[in-house]
Amino acid sequence: MFELKKRDGLARIGVIETAHGRIETPTLLPVINPRKVVITPTEMASMGAEIIITNSYIIKRNEEMREIALSKGVHELVGFDGPIMTDSGTFQSHVYGKVKVEPQEIVEFQREIGSDIGTILDIFTEPDDPRDVVERAVDTTLARAREAAGIHGDMVLAGPVQGSIFPDIRTRCARSYSDIDCGIHPIGGIVPLMESYRYSDLARIVLASKKGLRPSRPVHLFGAGHPMMFPLAAYLGGDMLDSSSYIKYARGDRMMFPSGTSRLGELEHLPCSCPACSDTTAAELKGMDEDDRALVLAEHNLRVSFAEIRAVKQAINDGSLFEMMARRARCHPELLAALHVVLEGWEQLERYAPIGRKAFMQTGHESTYRPVVRRFLKRIAERYSPPPGPRVFVDEVVQGESEVLNRGLARASADIWVSSPFGPVPYLLSHIYPVGYALFHSGTPILEPGMGSGFSMKVDSRKDIKGVLEHNAISLNQPIDPAVARVRATADHQFGKGAGNVLLDGTVEVVRSRNTDRIRNIKVDGEHVATMRNDGFLSIRFPGGRRLAGGLDAPAMRIVVEPDSAEFNVKGKSVFSRFVVDMDDEIRPGDDVLVVTEEYELVAVGRALLTRDEAMDMEKGVAVKVREGADQASNVAE
Ligand code: GUN
Ligand code: ZN
Repeated sequence: MFELKKRDGLARIGVIETAHGRIETPTLLPVINPRKVVITPTEMASMGAEIIITNSYIIKRNEEMREIALSKGVHELVGFDGPIMTDSGTFQSHVYGKVKVEPQEIVEFQREIGSDIGTILDIFTEPDDPRDVVERAVDTTLARAREAAGIHGDMVLAGPVQGSIFPDIRTRCARSYSDIDCGIHPIGGIVPLMESYRYSDLARIVLASKKGLRPSRPVHLFGAGHPMMFPLAAYLGGDMLDSSSYIKYARGDRMMFPSGTSRLGELEHLPCSCPACSDTTAAELKGMDEDDRALVLAEHNLRVSFAEIRAVKQAINDGSLFEMMARRARCHPELLAALHVVLEGWEQLERYAPIGRKAFMQTGHESTYRPVVRRFLKRIAERYSPPPGPRVFVDEVVQGESEVLNRGLARASADIWVSSPFGPVPYLLSHIYPVGYALFHSGTPILEPGMGSGFSMKVDSRKDIKGVLEHNAISLNQPIDPAVARVRATADHQFGKGAGNVLLDGTVEVVRSRNTDRIRNIKVDGEHVATMRNDGFLSIRFPGGRRLAGGLDAPAMRIVVEPDSAEFNVKGKSVFSRFVVDMDDEIRPGDDVLVVTEEYELVAVGRALLTRDEAMDMEKGVAVKVREGADQASNVAE
């Protein structure tokens, strides 16, 4: 039901199919109060809404609405023929202490009124609930979900993850949903946290929930409606967000912006060009009667929110959502605190962070701790094989190749380390994202203790590179070709220790770009084995894949597919996730992979779009974009 198209962090541009049409995530569901429609769903659709959410409990409690909903359906009742999600009354139990409806009854009602996505009557867990109360609430919620799973019919069932602020209970609740027939998982019980700006608790909870949830099921953040937090919410894996805030804020004369909230009373100037604001002024708005003003402000709040959703989607598209989130974190200190929780959770996030992509942009001190930086440093520690010569440290930031250092490498086989914003890094990797493909300020280095060399090996001998060059103390029995050494180090970094030797076993020819002089094509014994991309990583060609498959022990780089898939993959067609039998857990989105049969026969090389857990769970969509299949390779003369 969910198909992943693009990703950044845990954020996902994806498609959800419903009985009333497709929606593209991340998406914002405006809340419609069935008793009082201020802005109609049709108007909302023109602002960008693809799906709305309304409350089945409110509908059911009102005789007139209930009868219309039962006879004509909820779509007719609220006047919207697109997808509609309904909630169950749980939030009313949080506000009023109890609800007058049975768990089964409200699920059946939602199904009967034709809701596309219906929610079970989960137990709202409050931030200050004691642990044992929360455990029981989660057990009850799960029992109700199991019951509802038998009666939801064609309606997609939303099973909320509860667990208050206890990450381990959240993970347990999320995991327990694996074998319950739900299509969507909202994160519940977070409204009180957002009301009191407890974004770091929120971040911990969402990460803990994501850890346990099946990746094929979209995640909804119940009540996350302020545009200021959309980049964070999306980065943490919120595929669906909902907003009743747009109208609540409007009634309180508050205007929402991606940078925060402004009180109309304090505004002399309207800092907005949305259609609602463009033909009025702050003074005019203040002079309006209350209802008219609320309508303008509600429209403003919605338009700004949808624009921010679009900006988030574009950032996912660009691979720059972390940067966007980090900039927004400057809008509220508690968002900055949440950013720190994200950095602490780097191991979980690194797994889903695409390899490479757009240039790395420094936003602040947090840039050095980004998941992709941690991965880079970890891979240096685990996969870098130093050249045999003396280790020298060059106290200079180097991005890409340098003539002087290439000479040092060639003449002394020196294991050169250079300075970078992330600490000392091997010169042979100075071209790779994030060091080689990054924009950093030129002022004082922002290196903090513990980074760089703390992760990787100690740079113990800090000899001056010039000394090594001038004295030429090392006699060379095996001169090193700097370009070949760089490609070898890149392959090790990307595919695992030893991959470089396997890939480059033979007579190597490195072809440079005529325009930029950068390393481009790599040929071994006349065969084109790989191409170096702009971000410094290698794209493997089929002959390169053959070498890697022959020399790297399985499961490294492998994605095992069913025979039904292999026969298409050899011709260059993509691997769909439903045909994936198994996959190396070390593969990251954007990594190059070897597509093999269950007998480990190589059928194609390509680029993975999913991680192992995703590929194993997703029913729809592409797992590997094939670059070259076996049949194509044998037909192409190199
Ligand atoms: N709306 C806001 N929070 C919640 C929640 O925890 N559960 C449900 N069902 N609806 C909500
Ligand atoms: Zn506006």
